[in-house]
Amino acid sequence: MKFFLDTANLDEIRGAAAFGIADGVTTNPSLIAKEGNVDFKEHIAAICEIVSGPVSAECTSEDADGMLREGREYAQIAPNVVVKCPLTREGLKATRQLNDEGIKVNVTLCFSAAQAILAAKAGASFISPFLGRLDDIGENGLLLLQDIIDVYRNYDWKTEVLAASIRHPIHAIEAARMGADIATMPFKVIDQMFNHPLTDKGQAQFLADWRKSGRK
Ligand code: E4P
Repeated sequence: MKFFLDTANLDEIRGAAAFGIADGVTTNPSLIAKEGNVDFKEHIAAICEIVSGPVSAECTSEDADGMLREGREYAQIAPNVVVKCPLTREGLKATRQLNDEGIKVNVTLCFSAAQAILAAKAGASFISPFLGRLDDIGENGLLLLQDIIDVYRNYDWKTEVLAASIRHPIHAIEAARMGADIATMPFKVIDQMFNHPLTDKGQAQFLADWRKSGRK
């Protein structure tokens, strides 16, 4: 399973790149807004300098023509830019056309298997089911992820399943168990995956014993 960083924060992206586990980055308009008054295209370019894998840049137009205009522009920023379109009728029209022009699209805001099928049919390179946001309304995001993976297994669609809106390590573990192609995670969740109190305790004990034995 590939690890994408779900952030637009350059320090966090550099931090995950330093761990050697940043296979890509996903941004969205809310994440970009958190970075303050940055120039969108320059910021995406800066991310692409840190990470060589796919970097999602989301369209903010609501109509297909607007998304096509934005998508074509974003695709010029760097060869690893992936255009993000919402799972709306207009978003899928734009996805079809961008795909036909050789521009990769990540279809975002997916909350049902039916929507995921439509995205694959539209030629999406990635489909992003939002696990945490379904959990937030009392549904089970992981069940949706499993449904999509099961359906996609019946065909040789090129669309990769990108588990999104991941809130904690259990989401990541279960996504890996199901065979999701990618999990996009906030830096905090990746950092949490390192943690185990017995690792800390064991390491402290090993080093204390080493020093006690007179070694440096
Ligand atoms: C995915 O590409 C989205 O940016 C993201 O996963 C949304 O996560 P959230 O529900 O935590 O905002």
